[in-house]
Amino acid sequence: MTTPSTTHFDTAARDWDQRPMSQQLAAVPPRLLAQVPLAASDHVLDFGAGTGLLSTAIAPRVAQVTALDMSAAMLQVLDEKGFANIAPLQQDIFAGLPGRYHAVVSCMALHHVADTGALLRAFAAALHPGGRIALVDLYPEDGSFHGDNAAKGVQHFGFAPEALQALAEQAGFGHIQFSEILRMQHRNGRAYPLFLMTGYLP
Ligand SMILES: C[S@@+](CC[C@H](N)C(=O)[O-])C[C@H]1O[C@@H](n2cnc3c(N)ncnc32)[C@H](O)[C@@H]1O
Repeated sequence: MTTPSTTHFDTAARDWDQRPMSQQLAAVPPRLLAQVPLAASDHVLDFGAGTGLLSTAIAPRVAQVTALDMSAAMLQVLDEKGFANIAPLQQDIFAGLPGRYHAVVSCMALHHVADTGALLRAFAAALHPGGRIALVDLYPEDGSFHGDNAAKGVQHFGFAPEALQALAEQAGFGHIQFSEILRMQHRNGRAYPLFLMTGYLP
């Protein structure tokens, strides 16, 4: 499996939080937290953490967040936010994970990974028994959300819930549920719905 390029995210990192898209995505963490129970002793993995949209909202509620991202520049912006219990981890998700986690969360990173089944199996392998996933991404779209898909490393034009649920179940997750968490208004005038998929290991 080849390591994906970080060029797009390294270049975009400094202004990431000011993008209109990021400002709309700020609605996601409180909605996710309302649906996903987390304990004060939990260690959470944020896959594709970027500048910390989810990590910074979750950190005050749990013991530890590992913010995994392959872009050093994105993690540098997160690190400057000064959260003592967020540990940045700069690597490809498929390089092997150093810990075990109680939950894996992610926002808008799934569509950058070609092999979604392998990604879900990596999450399952990294979780304690009873561990949870809470994953946010696009419902199927026609490629117009990012526009320059190749330059941004887009591997999927969103996900059909039935197909993603089947992959999650094959990876060992159960009680899979989908809900629309946000409808993003794009500068192209269109609206793109985002799902939250939750589930947990037996
Ligand atoms: C669209 S950004 C989302 C960042 C953040 N979660 C947010 O919603 O603002 C996707 C992030 O996933 C990271 N990423 C993509 N593929 C990855 C991989 N295979 N391993 C680790 N990080 C990856 C990218 O570097 C990028 O920072």
